[in-house]
Amino acid sequence: MEKKNIDWSNLGFAYMQTDKRYVSNYKDGAWDEGTLTSDANIVLNECACVLQYAQTCFEGLKAYTTEDGHIVTFRPDLNAQRMAASAQRLEMPVFPEDRFVEAVHKVVEANAAYVPPYGSGATLYIRPYMFGSNAVIGVKPAEEYQFRVFTTPVGPYFKGGAKPITIRVCDYDRAAPHGTGHVKAGLNYAMSLYAIVDAHEKGFDENMYLDSATRTKVEETGGANFLFVTKDNTVVTPKSPTILPSITRRSLLYVAEHYLGLKTEEREVYMDEVKDFAECGLCGTAAVISPVGKIVDHDREICFPSGMEKMGPVIQKLYDTLTGIQMGHIEAPEGWIHKIC
Ligand code: PLP
Ligand code: COI
Repeated sequence: MEKKNIDWSNLGFAYMQTDKRYVSNYKDGAWDEGTLTSDANIVLNECACVLQYAQTCFEGLKAYTTEDGHIVTFRPDLNAQRMAASAQRLEMPVFPEDRFVEAVHKVVEANAAYVPPYGSGATLYIRPYMFGSNAVIGVKPAEEYQFRVFTTPVGPYFKGGAKPITIRVCDYDRAAPHGTGHVKAGLNYAMSLYAIVDAHEKGFDENMYLDSATRTKVEETGGANFLFVTKDNTVVTPKSPTILPSITRRSLLYVAEHYLGLKTEEREVYMDEVKDFAECGLCGTAAVISPVGKIVDHDREICFPSGMEKMGPVIQKLYDTLTGIQMGHIEAPEGWIHKIC
């Protein structure tokens, strides 16, 4: 298979249309058998539930070229599980988890020419999603749905790659107690658009959201979970019922304990203690681990000892180990790597 002629090393995190995508429709209480299609466009009724009431959820994962030339994905079963949880919370039918993994497999295989080569620094981002497609005007769930998966080759989520970023504590909320913060509902991201545009205009790379009930605890950013490292090298990550259970974060905690022999804590993290950490990073599929150099909390600045030039030493080790597992030069725990071809 010949790769597409793409300047892989200079890709940003942007959409590029690839050849094939997967589509399955839900009607009369059942999903159809699903198919790959070349058509990247969707025609919908003007009153489709997704357009009126945002009945949609999505996932994000990546395909990697390993050192020995295989194409793999990372823990797609966990994305399938999380999408099932999102669908249930949004009153949508679950797309069966085994079929989710199979759909991802087929789309990546069909777009193998777009999977960036090993060592290019780029990956193939995979976006499964589903939405209520029939016309609904009273507020109620749709009866018909579409599940789709497309792919797009991407580079780093934050410009500058591994350079530490500056974020601000945000005065807007992302998720309410007992709301939808713990699932990957499109509406959570609509909520964050005003805040991210405002943050960018003011020169910040991202927003740090606090818990909306007390505004004292660290939650997450618009698209990633937090990871902190204490001065004695314990990896700490916020625990909250209103943040997305990041697959990257869960994997990193395992890597910290079992590969690097570090202590880990998943617990409430108060904003007041953030100044005492040695390192801070954002973790997620898109973000991988993006180091945070500075947090601006209104008139107060928290500058981490790791500085603005490079990742701190513990975050660097976590990054190297996780990406080593994904790219196949460090042995993965059982079941983490799904081989495509
Ligand atoms: N938090 C939010 C709000 C996200 O959108 C994402 C991205 O999926 C994450 C965290 C990281 O999750 P994961 O590591 O599963 O990609
Ligand atoms: C991801 O990391 O996959 C995300 O969904 C974050 C962002 C691009 C929305």
